[in-house]
Amino acid sequence: MNLKSRRMMLTTFQRNGVPGLLFLVIFFSFHLLKISSAAGNEAEALVKWKTSLPSNSVLDSWSLNNSRNLCNWTGIKCSRAGTVSGINLSGADLNGTLDQLDFSSFPNLTVLDINTNNFEGVIPSAIGNLSKLAYLDLTTNLFEDIVPVEIGLLTELRYLSLFNNSFNGPIPYQIENLQKLRHLELGGNYFDGVIPGEIGLLTKLRYLSLVYNSFSGPIPYQIGNLQNLRFLNLAENYLETPDWSKFPSMPLLSFLFISGNELTLGFPDFITGCQKLSFLDLSFNYLTGPIPPSLFTNLVNLEYLGLSDNQFQRLPSPSFANVSKLNNLQLHNNNFSGPVPEFLGNISSLAYVKSYNNFFEGKIPSSLGKLRNLEYLDLRKNYLNSTIPSELGLLSNLTFLYLKKNQLSGPIPPEIGNLRSLLLLDLSENQLSGPIPKTFGNLTSLFNCLLISNNLSGTLPQEIGNLTTLSSFEVGNNKLSGKLPAEIGKMRALAYFSVKSNKLSGNLPPEIGKMRALTYFSVKNNTLSGNLPPEIGNMTALKSLDVRSNNLSGELPRTLFNLDRLVNLSLSDNQFSGLISLDL
Ligand SMILES: *[C@@H]1O[C@H](CO)[C@@H](O)[C@H](O)[C@H]1NC(C)=O
Ligand SMILES: *[C@@H]1O[C@H](CO)[C@@H](O)[C@H](O)[C@H]1NC(C)=O
Ligand SMILES: *[C@@H]1O[C@H](CO)[C@@H](O)[C@H](O)[C@H]1NC(C)=O
Ligand SMILES: *[C@@H]1O[C@H](CO)[C@@H](O)[C@H](O)[C@H]1NC(C)=O
Repeated sequence: MNLKSRRMMLTTFQRNGVPGLLFLVIFFSFHLLKISSAAGNEAEALVKWKTSLPSNSVLDSWSLNNSRNLCNWTGIKCSRAGTVSGINLSGADLNGTLDQLDFSSFPNLTVLDINTNNFEGVIPSAIGNLSKLAYLDLTTNLFEDIVPVEIGLLTELRYLSLFNNSFNGPIPYQIENLQKLRHLELGGNYFDGVIPGEIGLLTKLRYLSLVYNSFSGPIPYQIGNLQNLRFLNLAENYLETPDWSKFPSMPLLSFLFISGNELTLGFPDFITGCQKLSFLDLSFNYLTGPIPPSLFTNLVNLEYLGLSDNQFQRLPSPSFANVSKLNNLQLHNNNFSGPVPEFLGNISSLAYVKSYNNFFEGKIPSSLGKLRNLEYLDLRKNYLNSTIPSELGLLSNLTFLYLKKNQLSGPIPPEIGNLRSLLLLDLSENQLSGPIPKTFGNLTSLFNCLLISNNLSGTLPQEIGNLTTLSSFEVGNNKLSGKLPAEIGKMRALAYFSVKSNKLSGNLPPEIGKMRALTYFSVKNNTLSGNLPPEIGNMTALKSLDVRSNNLSGELPRTLFNLDRLVNLSLSDNQFSGLISLDL
């Protein structure tokens, strides 16, 4: 042991008093014969820990016979001085606990990364000895119980992740000592209690995630102090409307009577103080009230905004929005009412907008047509009662368009046919009228086309035969009339076809026999007439064939019995005649 390190050890043990000295004596007598260096001590501590773990060949290099090579042991990193500075055993399939790891042997450890293993048990309070630790990653293990208050001694920590374990209890307020912390991830545990306001003292934080825990109570207003925060995820907790947070300047206030008014204490306003935020997720909590306009004017770096699954009531209508990087807006499953704000059409960076299951009413703003980067628009289950604005046809990058279950009326604008990237179109359960536009034939990427339960009329355009990638075509419960076009036979990828409950007439075209991928075919409740064409026997993938309630007649073609995958065959309420031969 060199002089320098001995001096260091002495000062360490002086602080510990007599037991420390006693330990020192034992330490020396034990070590004088063996490896007389700090490195030797570290090697012994590692081997002692290894011995306590179920054996794993990953640690084969960890052996006292090999202690000269300590710095080359699997997962071990040394500083230039030759002492252990890092232990990285991520994804090594290790089991066991940290109980036998003598933290006091690693005064120079800066990195402890054992993410993605099967370690269990507690974080020993002796972890407080790792006074140089800057990086601690215990992500994805089976650790449990409370986090010891000694975590507050790790004042050099910059990165702390306990993600995806089974920790519980409150976050110790001593976390306030971790003044250098930039990344704090405590998500995916069972932490509960209130979020300590002390988190607001960690002003270097850039990343804060408490997602998927059992935190309750208000979001502490001190979070508004975290001016360097880029990423804030408080989703999937039991957080509530903050009652006191609006009154941070009245620290002595104990009684506040506000009932009998129409005040809504709602969105944690102070979050708009975190001006560098690019990711903000508050979804899956119990937050209520209106959203402050400052959210859309102050957070100029915002890229992701998750407000879904709360009880928020109103979106603001600021005349301008500064969130020019906002890409993903999640508003679904709230109580948002009133009109869909026009200003959304000015956030040209928007790519994903999910707003289903709210109480939005009135128009779909035509300004949405300006969102040329929009890929995903979901306004399902609202009370929108306008027409579909033709401007939506300008959304050339749109791949998913969900407008199901509103009160939209008027025709489907032919401009929808311009959406060449569209994979899914769901306009079901509205009051749309008029024909299915011929331009649908241009939707050559379309996979799902759902127009169920509207008042669509006219004939099925033959152009739908151009939809050769379509897998599902459902226009049941409308007023379509005329014949089924022979061109449907060209829809080679179609698996699901339903035109049930319309007013279609004429024959079933023999070309249906070309739909070899079809598993579900329903024309029930129409006024089709004539025979079942023998070509029906070529639809060999069919599992369900439903022609019930039509005026079909004649004998059943023998080929029908080639359909050996059929599970459901419904021929009822027609005028078929002749003998059914059941000698299959
Ligand atoms: C810790 O690092 C210092 C400086 O690099 C060194 O002098 C000392 O020996 C190290 N201590 C241990 C126990 O490794
Ligand atoms: C350091 O570890 C020793 C045992 O090795 C323990 O008694 C002591 O409490 C620890 N110190 C801190 C600050 O955790
Ligand atoms: C649509 O809803 C709005 C708001 O509820 C209402 O004022 C308007 O009259 C409705 N328009 C139609 C065409 O039903
Ligand atoms: C689309 O369908 C129409 C009508 O069946 C047909 O005339 C036209 O050639 C088709 N276009 C393409 C590109 O297949």
